Amino acid sequence: MNKRIKKILAKKNKTKIVCLTAYSKNVSMIIDNFCDLILVGDSLGSVLYNYKSTKKVSLNTMIEHSKSVRMGVKKSLMIVDMPYNTYRNSKEALKNAKKIISQTKCDGVKLEGGKKIFKIVKALVKNKIPVMGHLGLLPQSDKNFRFKGQKKSERDTMLIDAKLLEKAGVFSIVLECVETSLAKFVTKNINIPTIGIGASNICDGQILVLDDLIGLNPINVRFVKKFTNIRMEIKRAVSNYAKQVKNKTFPSKKHSY
Ligand code: KIV
Repeated sequence: MNKRIKKILAKKNKTKIVCLTAYSKNVSMIIDNFCDLILVGDSLGSVLYNYKSTKKVSLNTMIEHSKSVRMGVKKSLMIVDMPYNTYRNSKEALKNAKKIISQTKCDGVKLEGGKKIFKIVKALVKNKIPVMGHLGLLPQSDKNFRFKGQKKSERDTMLIDAKLLEKAGVFSIVLECVETSLAKFVTKNINIPTIGIGASNICDGQILVLDDLIGLNPINVRFVKKFTNIRMEIKRAVSNYAKQVKNKTFPSKKHSY
């Protein structure tokens, strides 16, 4: 088993697992030292390309961004999202997962869903492809943005799905927008780590979209804490640059040949 995956598994019930998304080399270089896992998420569809849904993200787009991210990742486990309609059956999933791994040199892939993808995950794992699961809010198939766990049916199926994914061989499961007591129930009843996003601090680890946490992506949802306001920093720098270009103090002799 991949050494980095073993490390992630060993953290269950011991230390929290730190995960973030990255879409490019300049970002992955900065965050690598602080992360256990870096995900090239298909959230890039909405964050970078303004798509209404991640369904529009292509395999090629994921591969190109992942190649860039790879250049900055030295120590973290690097996982790539399989986009919508690239894993409708085992054969298709295997072909596309192999393509992602061979072209991007990532460590594994992430797929959304539970029971529906059980056989597909099994096939990938059988072929030695590390898989991360994703339950709760599923941006590739859910129509509305709503946290999970309010309905009894959701509470009943989530543990079943999580256990099935575990049985199929995933090394961890992202829980997106899951009510705290349900996240706790799932986390306590499976032996692999859960990684929460909007799923409380009960989960074994946390993930956020980097662009959200630094305030680059102007999103306002409850689970996103803005740890800095990078838009203000950029505005300040660019306004200074514009001023100096106009008053000819940039470039000075120091920045000229
Ligand atoms: O696409 C993504 O960035 C994700 C994370 C939010 C978990 O799936």
